[in-house]
Amino acid sequence: MNAAYINQTGGPGVIICGELPTPKPQPRQCLVKVAAVDLNPIDVYWRSGLVPVKLAFPFILGHDLAGTVVEVGSEVRRFKPGDRVWATNQGFAGRPGTFAEFAAVHEEWLYPIPLGVSDLDAVAVSLVGATAHLGLVRDARLKAGEVLFVNGGAGGVGSCVVQMAKALGARVIATAGSDEKVAACRQLGADLAINYQTEGVAVAVKAFAPDGVNVWWETAREPDFDRVVSLLAPRGRMVLMAGRDARPPFPVGPFYVKDCSLHGFAMFNATAGELRAAAEEMNRWLSAGKLKARIARLLPLSQTAAAHRLQEESTLGKTGVVSGKIVLKV
Ligand SMILES: NC(=O)c1ccc[n+]([C@@H]2O[C@H](COP(=O)([O-])OP(=O)(O)OC[C@H]3O[C@@H](n4cnc5c(N)ncnc54)[C@H](OP(=O)(O)O)[C@@H]3O)[C@@H](O)[C@H]2O)c1
Repeated sequence: MNAAYINQTGGPGVIICGELPTPKPQPRQCLVKVAAVDLNPIDVYWRSGLVPVKLAFPFILGHDLAGTVVEVGSEVRRFKPGDRVWATNQGFAGRPGTFAEFAAVHEEWLYPIPLGVSDLDAVAVSLVGATAHLGLVRDARLKAGEVLFVNGGAGGVGSCVVQMAKALGARVIATAGSDEKVAACRQLGADLAINYQTEGVAVAVKAFAPDGVNVWWETAREPDFDRVVSLLAPRGRMVLMAGRDARPPFPVGPFYVKDCSLHGFAMFNATAGELRAAAEEMNRWLSAGKLKARIARLLPLSQTAAAHRLQEESTLGKTGVVSGKIVLKV
């Protein structure tokens, strides 16, 4: 089968698009004919070696897929050949990556693609949507009527946070780094969208939510805790999920006297059961049109290296040139 893989970490030039053996499904695995995959910042961190992880070479890139089951192992109960499915959290903990024509995936990590939803849209919300759901529902327990703030509401995770917070009945404040992205935040449902480059974020947040923000979602890698804590409501919750090397100062006193809490998580630590709960609600929202993909670029699998270059420039280079997801057709 065709696959995009690496035999060593390094620049995008280490990516090979070539032939690898087609996997055979184990008893509880489904063999999926992959139709679409997407990129996330973590793909760049791993491929570049910036985040050192033990990879078994040849390492097939990618964590998400959408496609069709073509064969099932002898003990598979949930799926049959012909079922359209999506998955995320692959390529971790010994599970193979997804940038290939076929992937053998344990049935506990597969979810049906709802009728009327395309493979491209399903894959484009997979990892980022699961991340947003885990943070909002499992960890921060966002409730209807609360105020949710998200820094970077037009980004991959941020755009899902905006839409899911609205679906959960929250009042949503989002920021973005350009007027175009601010407009995108409004289109996604944000009640207040602020250009963090040209407007005073704290003043706008205080005017919109004088009693404070109940849930603050940070996507930026260097959070300003002094600002965040001053804008949190009593019992406010902050979600942290980016910035492995960040070591910013933290205002301990102002934080605990307001009974605030901090929720850090990495979606790849989620159990199959936790991810299934997230996926089931995501599927309901996808069907109802409450969760929509934001696809920035569509490329063929053969251009995986070019896709990595783009994601790297946007994420590590902090240019933000990619607003939405890079999706690859297999
Ligand atoms: N912990 C986890 O499980 C998990 C899961 C997924 C992703 N992540 C991490 O979360 C981060 C975001 O991922 P992503 O896929 O959403 O990436 P992305 O699509 O590149 O989005 C990055 C976002 O950060 C915003 N941003 C950057 N600098 C900012 C600043 N100074 N103030 C406010 N916003 C700022 C950008 O806003 P503009 O473009 O408008 O400037 C953009 O919306 C990455 O570091 C990724 O590795 C973690």
